[in-house]
Amino acid sequence: MLTLAAVAEDPLVLTRRLNLKDGSDVVFRPLMHTDAERLAAFLEGLSAESRRLSTFDGYDLEAARKLCDAIARYDKLRLVLEDVLSGRIVGLVEFSLDLHPADIARYQEAGIHLTATDCRFGPTLSDDYQGRGVGTQIFPLIADVARHFGRTRIILFGGVLVDNPRAVRYYKKHGFQLVGSFTGSDGAQSFDMILDLHPLSGQ
Ligand SMILES: CC(C)(COP(=O)(O)OP(=O)(O)OC[C@H]1O[C@@H](n2cnc3c(N)ncnc32)[C@H](O)[C@@H]1OP(=O)(O)O)[C@@H](O)C(=O)NCCC(=O)NCCS
Repeated sequence: MLTLAAVAEDPLVLTRRLNLKDGSDVVFRPLMHTDAERLAAFLEGLSAESRRLSTFDGYDLEAARKLCDAIARYDKLRLVLEDVLSGRIVGLVEFSLDLHPADIARYQEAGIHLTATDCRFGPTLSDDYQGRGVGTQIFPLIADVARHFGRTRIILFGGVLVDNPRAVRYYKKHGFQLVGSFTGSDGAQSFDMILDLHPLSGQ
């Protein structure tokens, strides 16, 4: 089973290359310390609407450096999607291997007991990569990352805003089940959703 330290030491263990439907090649790989500037360009490029749907602590070089400094230091695993030709980061997928007490309590209310074999995840693509099926193409790789860490279920990191129909459709399409809804500290309504991961055939 992989650990965050093992991934930081050898990011190639989770590095996968993919040919997108438009013919371009992308690499899905762990975030690395050398990514700060390219990650800053990704964050800076996110539109106001993308920032509303997927919130980060900041959208500049300082924020990007913090994410790079956090590699293998906390419970988070961050992977990026990189366009091979340009070297541009066009997506960021965040995993949290620790559960938040508030999540545990909300899921418990819905009759779901979260355990150490569950994890949280949240995806964000650059505006120009959204709505083109790219999230769908990388979803099997996302599920594999969770499996490599011995996780059997994935919940949404912070839920998904009720008024984010594309993301809701995306999660449902990949097998996530609706658990319930909750109101965030900013008054916005979000859904909790959970996915049961099936072992890969042959495993
Ligand atoms: C959420 C996200 C990762 C999904 O990736 P994606 O590549 O855009 O998704 P896909 O194109 O693979 O799939 C989207 C699905 O939603 C559908 N869809 C698109 N717009 C929709 C809308 N307004 N209402 C309902 N469904 C919609 C698409 O048709 C597609 O379904 P289909 O394959 O059955 O036709 C990406 O859009 C993103 O980064 N969004 C901004 C940040 C965000 O919302 N992150 C999630 C936070 S919880």
